Amino acid sequence: MSTGAVLTAAGSGSRLGRPVPKALVELAGVPLVVRAAQNLAASGCVTVLVITVPGHVLDDFEVLFPGGRVPGHELPVRLVPGGATRQASVAAGLAALPAEVDVVLVHDAARCLAPPELAATVEAAVRGGRRAVVPALPVTDTIKQVDPARARSGAEPVTATVDRTALRAVQTPQGFLRAALADAHARGVDRGAAESTAASDDAGLAEAAGEQVWVVPGDLRALKVTTPTDLALAELLLS
Ligand code: CTP
Ligand code: MG
Repeated sequence: MSTGAVLTAAGSGSRLGRPVPKALVELAGVPLVVRAAQNLAASGCVTVLVITVPGHVLDDFEVLFPGGRVPGHELPVRLVPGGATRQASVAAGLAALPAEVDVVLVHDAARCLAPPELAATVEAAVRGGRRAVVPALPVTDTIKQVDPARARSGAEPVTATVDRTALRAVQTPQGFLRAALADAHARGVDRGAAESTAASDDAGLAEAAGEQVWVVPGDLRALKVTTPTDLALAELLLS
């Protein structure tokens, strides 16, 4: 029995707006995908890493993992072409994990600064008996619910102010019993996996499949690099 990780890096990064896929963009000289892989490796709890990559640039990713290992670590890496959606990429990654893997961490390369301790905490919670575990942070903004269908001249009417004390903003790595995640993905595909309906988060699929999902404390450093502002913020966090 061992823990594997699926690192999703097959997106294009359209909102970052660079000519190369987002995972290849460098943060202080190191590509996001390499940083994310090194932080997972440093957690000490992962024995195999599958990375989903854009199929047309497989070679550009291969050179980043010489000898099929995470640079500076022994952790073996398998690169697999991702799918059209993040959900499809995770499914492809799951299928490439060796049979002995019974616990899976799913992590976004875009959250490249998520510290090793976060992966270790999530993994320990799954090993401790929780079948689906996500790291998350309390929401600090005031949240309003609106009715977009009743918008007038660009203004949306507020229908409620949500009690934020019970809200959490979810991050990755998310941890699962492999069987539970595989089942959730199989059911997710049955419900439709088009761009518009695909899940943006694996815990959402698990929830929809009837799993109890558990939240453990997240980490500011697990922020997702989505826009150029996020990249600047990540640089600041590093310095
Ligand atoms: N991802 C993936 N396969 C896809 C889409 C996304 O593996 N078909 C990965 C991305 O590489 C990223 C993570 O899922 O690490 C989270 O997705 P997101 O931040 O949305 O990245 P992109 O889809 O690349 O960015 P954008 O939506 O701006 O194009
Ligand atoms: Mg995306």
